[in-house]
Amino acid sequence: MNVLVTGGAGYIGSHTCVALLEAGHSVIVVDNLSNCKRESIEKISQIADVKVTFYEMDVTDAQTVDVLFRNHHIDGVIHFAGLKAVGESVEKPLLYYVNNLVSTMVLAEACLQYGVKRFVFSSSATVYGDNKVPFEETMNLLPTTNPYGETKAMSERILTDIVKANPKFGVSLLRYFNPVGAHESGLIGEAPNGIPNNLMPYVAQVAKGKLKKLKIFGNDYPTVDGTGVRDYIHVVDLAEGHVAALDNLTAGVHIYNLGTGQGTSVLELVKAFEEANDIKVPYEIVDRRPGDIASCYADASKAERELGWTAKRDIVTMCRDSWWFEKKMSDQSVSSTVV
Ligand code: NAD
Ligand code: UD1
Repeated sequence: MNVLVTGGAGYIGSHTCVALLEAGHSVIVVDNLSNCKRESIEKISQIADVKVTFYEMDVTDAQTVDVLFRNHHIDGVIHFAGLKAVGESVEKPLLYYVNNLVSTMVLAEACLQYGVKRFVFSSSATVYGDNKVPFEETMNLLPTTNPYGETKAMSERILTDIVKANPKFGVSLLRYFNPVGAHESGLIGEAPNGIPNNLMPYVAQVAKGKLKKLKIFGNDYPTVDGTGVRDYIHVVDLAEGHVAALDNLTAGVHIYNLGTGQGTSVLELVKAFEEANDIKVPYEIVDRRPGDIASCYADASKAERELGWTAKRDIVTMCRDSWWFEKKMSDQSVSSTVV
C-alpha cells in the first residue's frame, strides 16, 4: 500500500515508517516539523534502506492537503500529527483543539473525497480516564483531566460519526498506553525539548547526569508499592501494531488497545533500568502530580485476537533501548546542563 503518514517525522511516526517500509509498504511522510527534526527522515531512509517521500506541511491546511491527495495515489492514512503536551494543553487549549481536531477533520474529508478507505488514528489510553483496570475497549469513556485528552476523545467521536454516515469508510482507533524505548540502531527515538514530563526520558537523563534526581510523584497510591502503575510499551512494538491495524482494516470503526497488558510501577521501572544498564538512578519521593491516576494498563487481548498482534519486547529491552538512544543522542549534543 501507499501510506500517507502524518506526523511521520515524530517519535512514534518515524518508527512506524520503518515498520511499514520493512513490511513492504511505501510511505509519504508529511510533518510541519513543529516537534521534531528534519533529519529523522534521513534516518528512516537509512534504517530501512529506502528513499522516503517527505513534504513539510501543516495538515490543518485543507488546500495543501487537497493538493497532496490529488497528486498522490494514497491507499491509507496513519494520522499521528498532533500536539501532545498535557500541561501546555491546559495553558493553550485553543491551540490544541484547533490543531488536533482540524487536522483530523481535514484528513477525513480528503479521504472521503478521494476514495481512501483506510484511516488509522493515534488515540490514547487517557480516554479511559480513571476506569477500573485493566482497560477494555468496550468500557464507557470517562472525562479526561485536560484539553489534550479531550481532543483524543472528540476525534474518536468525530471519526465514529463520519463512519456512521459513510459505512464503507474504515477507521482504526488505536489507544496507546505508554510508549517508551527507541529503535535498536539508536538512530531514532524520543528527544523531548527541555525537561521531560514523562518518566522514561526523565530517568534516562538522570542516569546520564543531565538531571540530578528523579522526583517520584507519590508513594501512597493503592498499588503494589504505592507508586503509579503504567503499561509501558516498546515503540517498535507499537509501530508494528500500526502495520497490523492497517493491513487488517475493513469498513467500520475498530478500536484497539495497544499495550502489553502488564503494569509496572515507577519503582519497578527504576529498578529495571538500573539492572538493565548497570547504572544508578538517584530518586526522591515528592507529592503526587495533579491529574495522575494510580493505575493504567490494558486488556490487550482484542488486538491479539483480531489483528494477530502482541507486544514482544519486555521492560528490560525498553530500558536498554531508551538508554542506548539517550547515550547516542547526548554524545551528539553540545548541551550538558545539569538541572
Ligand atoms: P511527536 O510530537 O513526536 O509526533 C507528532 C508529530 O506531528 C511531530 O513530528 C509534529 O511536528 C507533527 N505535527 C503536529 N501538528 C502537526 C500539524 N498540524 N501538521 C503536520 N505535522 C504536525 O509525538 P508522538 O509521541 O510521536 O505522538 C504521535 C501521536 O500519538 C500524537 O497524536 C499523540 O497525541 C499520540 N499519542 C502519543 C502518546 C505518547 O506517549 N507519545 C500516547 C498516546 C497518544
Ligand atoms: C502521561 C500523560 C498522558 C499521556 C501519557 C503517554 C500526564 C498527566 N498524562 O501519562 O496524557 O497519554 O503520558 O504519553 O502528563 N512520574 C514520576 N516522575 C516523573 C514523571 C512521571 O514519578 O518525573 C510517574 C507518574 O506519576 C506516573 C508514571 O511515572 O505514575 C508515568 O508518568 P508519565 O510518563 O508522565 O505518563 P502518564 O502519567 O501515564
